[in-house]
Parts: sequence; C-alpha cells; structure tokens
Amino acid sequence: MQQIPLLQNIKEAAAYIREKYPVTPEVALILGSGLGVLADLVEDAVTIPYEEIPNFPVSTVEGHAGELLLGTIGGRHVLLMKGRFHMYEGYGVDTVSFPVRVMKELGVQKLLVTNAAGGVNTSYSPGDLMIIRDHINFTFRNPLIGPNFGELGVRFPDMSEAYSRRLREVAKSVAAEQGLTLQEGVYLGLLGPSYETPAEIRMIRTLGGDAVGMSTVSEVLVARHAGIEVLGFSCISNMAAGILDQPLSHEEVIETTERVKQTFLKLIMGIIPKM
Ligand code: 6GU
Repeated sequence: MQQIPLLQNIKEAAAYIREKYPVTPEVALILGSGLGVLADLVEDAVTIPYEEIPNFPVSTVEGHAGELLLGTIGGRHVLLMKGRFHMYEGYGVDTVSFPVRVMKELGVQKLLVTNAAGGVNTSYSPGDLMIIRDHINFTFRNPLIGPNFGELGVRFPDMSEAYSRRLREVAKSVAAEQGLTLQEGVYLGLLGPSYETPAEIRMIRTLGGDAVGMSTVSEVLVARHAGIEVLGFSCISNMAAGILDQPLSHEEVIETTERVKQTFLKLIMGIIPKM
C-alpha cells in the first residue's frame, strides 16, 4: 500500500523505538538547558542515539549527539529526549517537532517541556521558575501547515488550553508541598539566535509576554494537535534586554540554570508521578 511519507516516517521511527522498549511510555520529557541530568534519574533506562532511529533528526551543531531514553521515573514509564532541536540551529519547524509526532505514535499521553527563558515581566527575577500558562507564537512558523492527516489530529486544532489547567494545578500543589513559589505566565517564543533589543522587549511586554525564549512552541503545537496534554516550565535565567542595565550572555543563562537545577529537578521529580 502506498503510504504518505510523513506518516510512514513517523511509523518507522516509532516501530524502531518500540522494538527496543516494548512498553508504552505514558509521559514524555523534553528538557531545556541545564536539566539534561534528569536523564541520570531514569531507572532501567534503554538509551537510543538519535542517529539510530529511522528518520529522526540528528544533532550536528551541538557537538554531542542527542539520545532518547526510555525507562521509569517514580514508577511511570517515560520517554526522555536528551538533546532537542532548535530552529536557530537551522532546523525547520517540521524537523524540530518530528519527535513529538513519534511520541504520539508511541502512545504518549502527557508531555512535560522545560526551557530557559528571559524574564520580560519586571516582577520576575533570575532563578524564578514559571509555569507556562499560555504561549504566543512569534516564530510565525507552524508545523501543522500542509495537508492534514486525520489520524494525527484535526485540521484546525483548538489552542484554548494549550497548557493543561489540570497539570498546572498539579504543578502548583507539588510546589506548595515543597515550599516552592512558582510564577505563572505567558511564554513568547521566537526564532533567535540573537537576543531581543530593548524595544522588542517593550513590545513583547505590551503584547502580554512574561518570558521570552527560542524553543517549545512548535513542539507544543504538534502535541496539542495530537491530543497530548502539556505541562511547560520556563526557568527565568536572566532578565530580558532593557530591564537591567547590563548586556545579556549565554554564560548567565548557564550559571542561573545551574544554580536552580536541584530545585527544578526536585519539582519535576515530584510532578511526574502525579501527572
Ligand atoms: Cl532574553 N531571549 C530569548 N529569546 N531567549 C532567552 C533569553 C532571552 N534568555 C534566555 N533565553
């Protein structure tokens, strides 16, 4: 039977993964800067390098190749992406979101995404953790453009609750148990790789953005199309341009994410069993 290439590519990738790990992962994790170490907390992990998986994008820019981990965390079967793809690296929106298509084919029902982001809301501070309540797609790219395949989702997917209210409440209750205060706000995603100008940040604030970053939006669009429930967090790694009188640097992003890593990990480990 003649198969549509996208569907065939998804099925081939999923079949390969299923062969290596025959259990359905219920929860998938895409973790941004600094949180890759969560991979070490996956129990009985099966590791599959991206380059082994048919049709999977391969990280070329970052130096170290990415890998998929399948195993358990807190008794839940999880799939963890160690290494994600960004459009600023030159990948297209379809490539960046392809792994989420494969997650759906594998039977994933919930997705936890994290990223490092600049604080736009002036009441935020570097090191704050923000539950993503909603996003603004300032990449102006959409992975759902093209023919729609009914088995993947509907033509015009609803985005009125892109980030699950239920999961946001779970996150808040776990945070409260841990004595942690979380921010909750709107993530505005754009392409990068340059950081924004002060004028752009004023615009973003006017438009309703609380945090700004270069990832997450395309993955979430595909997840919602696929009916996957999403929980997202931004680690506010620095204030965006024009708020403090200082230049932005990737070093600051790394330093802050390192500083809050243990807190962030503990929160995520507390949430996964309750998702
Ligand atoms: Cl200030 N902007 C963007 N686009 N991404 C970031 C950031 C700022 N800080 C961390 N990631």
